[in-house]
Amino acid sequence: MASSEQHILVTGGAGFIGTHCSLQLLQEGYKVSMIDNFHNSVMEAVDSVKELAGPKLAEKLQFHKADLRKIDELEKVFSQNKYDAVIHFGALKAVAESMQHPFRYFENNLIGTINLYQVMSKYNVKKMVFSSSATVYGQPEKIPCVENYPYMPMNPYGRSKVYCEEMGKDIQKADPEWRIISLRYFNPVGAHKSSKLGEDPKGIPNNLMPYLHQVAVGRLPELNVYGHDYPTKDGSAVRDYIHVMDLADGHIAALKKLFTAQDIGFTAYNLGTGQGTSVLEMVAAFEKASGKKIPVKLSPRRPGDATAVYAATDKAQKELGWKPKYGIEEMCRDQWNWAKNNPMGYQKKA
Ligand code: UD1
Repeated sequence: MASSEQHILVTGGAGFIGTHCSLQLLQEGYKVSMIDNFHNSVMEAVDSVKELAGPKLAEKLQFHKADLRKIDELEKVFSQNKYDAVIHFGALKAVAESMQHPFRYFENNLIGTINLYQVMSKYNVKKMVFSSSATVYGQPEKIPCVENYPYMPMNPYGRSKVYCEEMGKDIQKADPEWRIISLRYFNPVGAHKSSKLGEDPKGIPNNLMPYLHQVAVGRLPELNVYGHDYPTKDGSAVRDYIHVMDLADGHIAALKKLFTAQDIGFTAYNLGTGQGTSVLEMVAAFEKASGKKIPVKLSPRRPGDATAVYAATDKAQKELGWKPKYGIEEMCRDQWNWAKNNPMGYQKKA
């Protein structure tokens, strides 16, 4: 349990991972302040966190509508509370959009992070868990991806994550009081088992699981399987899917390390299961969990996609004492539970 005095600021708190992680933080005894600008999220998601936390824990949750690009809005949040650490999720994350609008990505992800580092420094809050991504590895020469592999991002989104990591390293070198843990997520999927929290992207989803969700509930006609000629077991691309609740646990483990270990400096950890699953295997698992037939169209490869990416998990297991609990079956079960109870996401009546 956390000391009841520990207050965590969560940027992007209303988003997919932000909500699951904030709930977990409250349940672990932390106070939580969320920041979000609702670019890709809604207030209903915050209300769901409060509902699941229950009235007593919900009192420990604050919400601030603020945009990380506006340093005065950020200052206002920091001037109201004393934070012990920050978990920084708030960023744009669509690969294709980043290729069409690189400025949008650099402005949001870089300026937002620079502002945050600056204000944290000013208010003497020097502990950060940074939301990074397996995208920093690009198409690795060897798999599983090990944390010390060179950066090889393939798009502006990926580059923005690399720059933020590099920035963190420099800031920490200049001021050794900083402790920064960068968590490189593989493919976060699934939902809270209550079906009251889940992923709800605005517009047509880019990612596989929300797309499957929308096909299964009839919002989209079929799934395009991007690529069936990859040199993999069934020709479709292979990824390392990880349950969002395991990811949330990974953040708690990282936070605990920030508060206890002296020698962190800047350290990166993969958060994945180490298991590769192909797109077609994922479709089959989702069909099994939902009992629905998913119409599939075998389509050309999506530009910029890697053949196979999965994590080396030893470092996180050893140094964070964290291990994922859920497999593909539970990920699909919880994703379907969220989908069937919330076919339109948080917009219940739409
Ligand atoms: C992407 C990002 C990653 C980010 C993650 C979650 C890259 C290259 N990818 O991962 O950084 O963390 O999203 O936001 O940087 N697929 C289909 N049909 C679809 C959608 C996807 O077949 O409609 C396939 C893709 O080709 C891929 C797999 O499903 O092989 C997973 O795709 P997706 O969920 O978009 O995640 P990634 O591209 O792996």
